[in-house]
Amino acid sequence: VPVSRIRNFSIIAHIDHGKSTLADRMLQVTGTVEERKMKEQFLDNLDLERERGITIKLQAARMNYTAKDGQHYVLNLIDTPGHVDFSYEVSRSLAACEGALLVVDASQGVEAQTLANVYLALENNLEIIPVLNKIDLPGAEPERVAEEIEEIVGLDCSGIIKASAKEGIGIDEILESIVHLVPPPQDTTNQPLRALIFDSYYDAYRGVVVYFRVMDGTVKKGDRVLLMASGKEYEIDELGVLSPHQIQVNELHAGEVGYFAAAIKTVEDARVGDTITLAQKPASEPLPGYKEAKPMVFCGLFPTDSDQYESLRDALNKLKLNDAALNFEPETSTAMGFGFRCGFLGLLHMEIVQERLEREYDLDLITTAPSVVYQVTTTDEEVLEIDNPSQLPPPQKRIKIEEPYVKVEILTPETYVGALMDLCQSRRGEFKDMRYFTQTRTALIYELPLAEIVTDFFDQLKSRTRGYASMEYHLIGYRENELVKLDIMVNGDGVDALAMIVHRDKAYNVGRALTEKLKELIPRHQFKVPIQAAIGAKIIASEHIPALRKDVLAKCYGGDITRKKKLLEKQAKGKKRMKSIGTVDVPQEAFMAVLRLN
Ligand code: GTP
Repeated sequence: VPVSRIRNFSIIAHIDHGKSTLADRMLQVTGTVEERKMKEQFLDNLDLERERGITIKLQAARMNYTAKDGQHYVLNLIDTPGHVDFSYEVSRSLAACEGALLVVDASQGVEAQTLANVYLALENNLEIIPVLNKIDLPGAEPERVAEEIEEIVGLDCSGIIKASAKEGIGIDEILESIVHLVPPPQDTTNQPLRALIFDSYYDAYRGVVVYFRVMDGTVKKGDRVLLMASGKEYEIDELGVLSPHQIQVNELHAGEVGYFAAAIKTVEDARVGDTITLAQKPASEPLPGYKEAKPMVFCGLFPTDSDQYESLRDALNKLKLNDAALNFEPETSTAMGFGFRCGFLGLLHMEIVQERLEREYDLDLITTAPSVVYQVTTTDEEVLEIDNPSQLPPPQKRIKIEEPYVKVEILTPETYVGALMDLCQSRRGEFKDMRYFTQTRTALIYELPLAEIVTDFFDQLKSRTRGYASMEYHLIGYRENELVKLDIMVNGDGVDALAMIVHRDKAYNVGRALTEKLKELIPRHQFKVPIQAAIGAKIIASEHIPALRKDVLAKCYGGDITRKKKLLEKQAKGKKRMKSIGTVDVPQEAFMAVLRLN
């Protein structure tokens, strides 16, 4: 089809507002996927994604649509991940589009993340089409939610589409709006090739499969291409479109969306945001907006059983083939033995990787509490990036410590504003702004240290607002603060994996709360176990776990053998996730205790 009849769009929606259901409906109505194949939702592929009900990896689908004007159109839907950790990927897939559907649950309303993505879409000059979904629900309030979208997003909602992805209502209207409101791509076929990578995945047979949008020029099968940011060259073995199954074609022009394979060994070599051009006739400039995904949160991963160290390395290497944002380096801890220090985009990314290592690779891991990256200026005028609290140079060797700050935007019903301000204040937050939109949507804007967000901030936000508030954040830079290292000793031994960096003003409270929590979490032993918190040589908090008095088996009166066995099995299970520190068994939960302090 000519470029005038191509429409590239994505869907912006909060988690659970119905993005996948709507995408499936569109594939079905346009006959892209047959009904009997629609059993599973098409756009979300990973199991984990489905279980958690969130979209992590981007995908794309090309639909053929005959509009009411009798013309044939090609509609390319580019999916976006729905979580703040992946907002760079969202921005790149939006950059590949001319329009976006803004899908809002008519029984809920606008959420912070939706708003953040709308801003990204506006930055990319996208035409935004608002859609109210789930109008079939008895609790739907289309008028109120439409008003909310007008107030908060500033879009004209007088003719807003009322849809139910579940019941198939409003789907034709959505497709027609895409055709009539989303502008076609510019016809720049005669310019040098520039194509934007918006996703990629690793395939064991073909190497990395790269998803891209041709912005200018033409790309053909057999072309030798240059990836401008990585500087690598490849020959395209396979070129195609996503329908949503891959269908091979010989060439793709400006405005089109497709995939290629070129025996690329790891997704790191074909990063999201990179520009593809022809090796022989390269474009003079890459497309704007490329950034290297930078890990923001780090933690240690240690096998419970040291025999699993090599398997853990293999597993991380395999995950890395498909996850350019995952970073890892060997780490040796006096307390934990051999493991890896891993870097992630955010907390969700961290949890996903941990879960996959355990589930798909059958590893038993002890993970340490997440840490942000500190910039430490030493007395030698060096600036070190410290992502592991135990590596912080001693006070006499350092001049200052700077920590990452984020701007947080919270949308909340008015009634919870006070509770949320308390929360932000207790997390060293600086109030910036408050904006009242509607009774159910007040925006609170704070600047906070990222370290205060990666603990249980999100859980607290949800529990203090009965789930009604939502939030979004982004990095704004580094700031100097009075930070100190808090060391933890168990039975007299310093446990490097429990060390943390805290603000001086909070150190005493954190030290006390942490020793109390550890006392709760570490089981009793045959001997008394002291637990202490210290700053340098100074002990600031101290607790002890009393010795165990009775043998567990004593309860069984020596009689019933099956009961005895059961009890032993139960004990063995409980032991699974323990790490021996000296003679003390410390359970996994203890390493995460800092996330559960009050
Ligand atoms: P993420 O993939 O996590 O971003 O979620 P999503 O926005 O794709 O939501 P999804 O399509 O998975 O829908 C979430 C839930 O809402 C599912 O249980 C759907 O069945 C349901 N749902 C989606 N659309 C409608 C609708 O129009 N009406 C009703 N009643 N339920 C819907």
